[in-house]
Amino acid sequence: MSIPTRPLPSAPDVELPAIGLGTYPLRGSDGVAAMRSALEAGYRFVDTAVNYRNEREVAEALQQSGLPREDVWVQTKVPGRDHRGARRCVETTLQVMDLEVVDSVLIHWPNPSRDEYLAAWEGLIEARERGLVRHIGVSNFHVHHLDRIIEATGVTPFANQIELHPYLPQEEMRAADSERGILTQSWSPIARGGDLFEEPAVTAAAEAHGISPGQAVLAWQVSLGAMPLPKSADPQRQRDNLAAASVALTEAEVDAISALGRPDGRLFDADPDHHEEL
Ligand SMILES: NC(=O)c1ccc[n+]([C@@H]2O[C@H](COP(=O)([O-])OP(=O)(O)OC[C@H]3O[C@@H](n4cnc5c(N)ncnc54)[C@H](OP(=O)(O)O)[C@@H]3O)[C@@H](O)[C@H]2O)c1
Repeated sequence: MSIPTRPLPSAPDVELPAIGLGTYPLRGSDGVAAMRSALEAGYRFVDTAVNYRNEREVAEALQQSGLPREDVWVQTKVPGRDHRGARRCVETTLQVMDLEVVDSVLIHWPNPSRDEYLAAWEGLIEARERGLVRHIGVSNFHVHHLDRIIEATGVTPFANQIELHPYLPQEEMRAADSERGILTQSWSPIARGGDLFEEPAVTAAAEAHGISPGQAVLAWQVSLGAMPLPKSADPQRQRDNLAAASVALTEAEVDAISALGRPDGRLFDADPDHHEEL
């Protein structure tokens, strides 16, 4: 299956797949098999993190797929404990994955109480200058975190990966990213399924297009201009999720799904101003 691509806001000559693969918590031989089946289905963007403890599995799946290295975008994330050693952290990732360069690296969480995310950003800038990583970005950044690192270094992240699903449509953060030329990536893009798939706005869009509720939510993501990173270990759902990138919802359907947003829509109360992950 070929996936629609989109130009990267920060580098319009670079095309990114409209949908990528989330890999948490895929691990071990089952994890490798799941990632390999995703690559066989057509995924060309894989999202991992040091803290998922599966970078090695991503590398193995890539190798087993036989795909040329340049055909698959590999993204990882620097954990909070490595903010003061971000460049070294990227070097370790390259060793673990047996790669010469990783396509993108994000700061996983700002962990503001430790106040080291600016140092992490400077470390990623250095890693990019040394040719260890092609694109550098952030995850779970609010506007004030973004503006601090941009003002201090003059370097804007290529992407901001945030919790984004119909219960948390993140309208303001998406607008702030877009104004700065930053791609918004969505974690937990289908809110891990569950109640969301029973919402009338979702089931109506799914029925109208002859697709599943999960596909309707992913089509909504793509309509917003966000890049969703759904995780699935199931080959059929992997294919379905990828196919959703080609479904065009109507404006009314998009608006109805966006209206599911709630003030307390976060799945586990992980507000980046308070939530810390090391
Ligand atoms: N930056 C961050 O702080 C952060 C935080 C959390 C997650 N992430 C990233 O975002 C990725 C995705 O987030 P997530 O795994 O939390 O949530 P998600 O992708 O919204 O949901 C994954 C769950 O939904 C099921 N599923 C997938 N496709 C489905 C479909 N079409 N219909 C029904 N069920 C479906 C999966 O089960 P099956 O496997 O059985 O299909 C899995 O249980 C992660 O893997 C990770 O890469 C990043």
